[in-house]
Amino acid sequence: MTRKALITGITGQDGAFLAEFLLGKGYEVHGMVRRASTESFERIASLRDRLILHQADLLDQLSIITLISQVRPHEVYNLAAQSFVPTSWLQPLLTGEFTALGVTRMLEAVRLVDRDIRFYQASSSEMFGKVRQEPQNEQTSFWPRSPYGVAKVYGHWITVNYRESYNVFACSGILFNHESPLRGKEFVTRKITDAVARIKLGVQDKLVLGNLEAMRDWGFAGDYVKAMWLMLQQDEPDDYVIATGEKHSVREWVELAFGHVDLDWREHVQSDPKLLRPAEINTLRGDATKARTILQWQPEVAFPELVRMMVDADLQRVRRELADRDR
Ligand code: NAP
Ligand code: GDD
Repeated sequence: MTRKALITGITGQDGAFLAEFLLGKGYEVHGMVRRASTESFERIASLRDRLILHQADLLDQLSIITLISQVRPHEVYNLAAQSFVPTSWLQPLLTGEFTALGVTRMLEAVRLVDRDIRFYQASSSEMFGKVRQEPQNEQTSFWPRSPYGVAKVYGHWITVNYRESYNVFACSGILFNHESPLRGKEFVTRKITDAVARIKLGVQDKLVLGNLEAMRDWGFAGDYVKAMWLMLQQDEPDDYVIATGEKHSVREWVELAFGHVDLDWREHVQSDPKLLRPAEINTLRGDATKARTILQWQPEVAFPELVRMMVDADLQRVRRELADRDR
């Protein structure tokens, strides 16, 4: 029997990678999309003919129940969220509605419609915040430092709670930062690689960033969606940290990205205190030993390769845009 998966947040970076991965495994892939006056399906454009998309919203409980009743998926991947940390200070309540309560709405729908559905929750290393130990693993306590991080802690614990209270096969994947050419341009990695491409091609001069000393454990999104799927294929539901185990600073990203196209970053990068966050997470580094041992998962793309991949993709895209403009 063909397995059916439902992905919320299918139009986002991870949604696009996961959809492609599941199609490759022979799944019938359904995606939940929210209504907008203009569709933003660029990331899944090449897969569109093979996906079944449905309108529903994390804010609307009935729409989610109806969707799950109609699709009757075997697996649900809850990737939808307000995922940009700075926006969570500007819109803390909406972030809580989407990123925290949205998880309960998804779990309630699963509980009501079919408790045999396997459920994945997109949890985040942002929950570790002001880190209590290094590296962080599944036992490390949380100290979130943004409304987004707080909302993700709620999403994590409600997932654990539905597993323990209702026996739902619910897993929380605690994923560290993962990037790709599909990353939103407001996140620091893509902001850098987009700027590098534009500066190299002469259509931008400066790149203004915030805290260059922040350190993150950055991996490749294509590797991380495989871990999501692996979690739902186990005999027992559980929570897993997914990370590379290496950390690098924003400054290192900048150096590598500019260096890849033979530019000196010091001539282009400025730091603006306005871009500093009310509370910063200075450092994150994950310990994915449990995932390596139980899921047999490991990251394939190393840090310098990730930087080069993203710069090259942006160079290609900007060149194409310029050629189209001049045509
Ligand atoms: P993303 O690119 O920002 O995508 C977010 C998705 O959520 C988009 O498809 C968006 O739809 C959808 N969405 C937002 N609000 C919604 C609502 N009210 N109803 C329905 N859909 C809604 O995020 P991502 O990087 O792919 O991350 C996927 C998930 O993993 C998120 O939950 C994120 O918080 C979490 N996470 C990400 C990372 C990372 O490093 N990427 C690390 C840990 C955890 P629109 O296209 O309509 O905006
Ligand atoms: N966005 C951004 N823009 N970040 C900057 C900038 C800038 O101009 N300059 C420095 N930074 C620093 C931020 O202060 C932060 O310490 C770091 O770069 C990474 O920022 P983001 O790329 O915005 O990612 P994030 O770590 O805040 O959040 C991402 O990873 C989480 C997992 O830890 C998001 O994908 C979250 O959704 C995810 O949960």
